[in-house]
Amino acid sequence: MTTSRTPLIAGNWKMNGATAEAVALARAVAAGTAAGCELLVCPPTVLIPPVAAALKGGAVAVGGQDCHFAESGAHTGDIAAVMLADAGCSHVILGHSERRADHGESDALVCAKTEAAHAAGLIAIVCVGETLAERDGGETLARISSQIEGSLPAAVTAENTVIAYEPVWAIGTGRTPTAADVEEVHTHIRGDIERRFGAGVAGGIRILYGGSMKPSNAGELLAIDGVDGGLIGGASLKAEDFLAIAASCP
Ligand code: 13P
Repeated sequence: MTTSRTPLIAGNWKMNGATAEAVALARAVAAGTAAGCELLVCPPTVLIPPVAAALKGGAVAVGGQDCHFAESGAHTGDIAAVMLADAGCSHVILGHSERRADHGESDALVCAKTEAAHAAGLIAIVCVGETLAERDGGETLARISSQIEGSLPAAVTAENTVIAYEPVWAIGTGRTPTAADVEEVHTHIRGDIERRFGAGVAGGIRILYGGSMKPSNAGELLAIDGVDGGLIGGASLKAEDFLAIAASCP
């Protein structure tokens, strides 16, 4: 890395765990050391209060995996950003490809959710990434640009937003792009951010890589120029693996 952006190592627990397991995992993460990087865990919504209680006062932050764009109202089953903040969250993942695929979330919806997260004082982790068909069709950079353009509101700053580049075909598959491919996409994203938000935001905003990051490949992925941390799924469910990834931060 060429700048002083502090790496962020974020665990997306997805729809895994029950209370006892989640609290034990959170405690084990908190007991580890992660010099030089920030740690974040994002449990399923109902597990946020016990996890936040277990992590209270420590260095590991807590985030949600989604929120609604409205502040409150008749939205059965949904959670408002302000509720996440109230439950102890500092971050929220938005526009994850699993939500885009499972719930038909559009860039415009992700953008509205990002505004809601900012209004609630949360740091939005906005996810983008191409499918295998898009990569094979040579459309990766165009796809990423359109997601970045459509998913980010005007008020994005380096402090209130983190970008996560997660190639859809690398999530949960054990496959990862080459280092050159990751660097190309991260450089491209930072260029898009610079054109729209200016050099200050582009220089400060963190762009994470996500997709089959694990202890054995984290060192290589985190050393790529422009990669400012990781968004980790499967390997975040074992404290030992998650902390080993954090220990790989350059
Ligand atoms: P895996 O690390 O399991 O591939 O998941 C990545 C991811 O989707 C993180 O949001």
